[in-house]
Amino acid sequence: MGKDVIIACDFATGKETLDFLGGFKGRKPFVKIGMELFYAEGPDIVRKIKAGGNRIFLDLKLHDIPNTVRKAMARLSGLGVDVTNLHAAGPSNMMKAALEGLTGPDGRRPLLIAVTQLTSTDQETMENELLIREPMENVVMHYALNARNAGLDGVVCSPLEAAAVHGVCGSSFITVTPGVRFADGDKGDQKRVMTPSQAAAAGSDYIVMGRPITAAADPVEAYERAVRDFVGEG
Ligand code: C5P
Repeated sequence: MGKDVIIACDFATGKETLDFLGGFKGRKPFVKIGMELFYAEGPDIVRKIKAGGNRIFLDLKLHDIPNTVRKAMARLSGLGVDVTNLHAAGPSNMMKAALEGLTGPDGRRPLLIAVTQLTSTDQETMENELLIREPMENVVMHYALNARNAGLDGVVCSPLEAAAVHGVCGSSFITVTPGVRFADGDKGDQKRVMTPSQAAAAGSDYIVMGRPITAAADPVEAYERAVRDFVGEG
């Protein structure tokens, strides 16, 4: 898998999502399906989008006991998704169980990436509520290393952390980075943002962009701009 732009399809219904993707005509962007759409529509929406030919990152952020995660991941693997994820706060026994569950009889499996610390959690919250007293950067790198040592393929992180993650975990460990905005765009509720070309320079392997594409007057044009800025083609 090379560098690519993943569109966060944060729509409330399957119909809206399929209408949106229909606008891309022949193009088949890589899409992210999150909890909102999955819980509204169930696994059928994943099957429908997959049948349309798009690659899918299923962003459900699992975190449970190893046995439950193993079995849940086996179900998700059966949907044919390309990438899925879990919380690195669930320790390495959970991460290894997830890999077992994802691996099919032929030995193939979707890529598995870990959420280190949510970007909505800041240092103060982490210290006062989670009682984790290390600097955020150390926590993120430690969780990334745990994920790599458990056999995972990468992490979801801020583009600002991508270079450090590659430094600690190696250049082939994938960084998937949300929090990306066009230079002339609205930041919305994202605080620390980078443009697609800055994220590329910072070493992101995949950028996740939602509203700058989904809410654009011309989503296909916005997507093509993101691809041009990030991977240099369009
Ligand atoms: O619309 P926007 O570009 O902000 O969408 C970003 C997407 O990435 C959303 O689906 C959001 O849930 C997700 N995300 C994020 N920050 C994280 C993890 C996931 O923005 N740390």
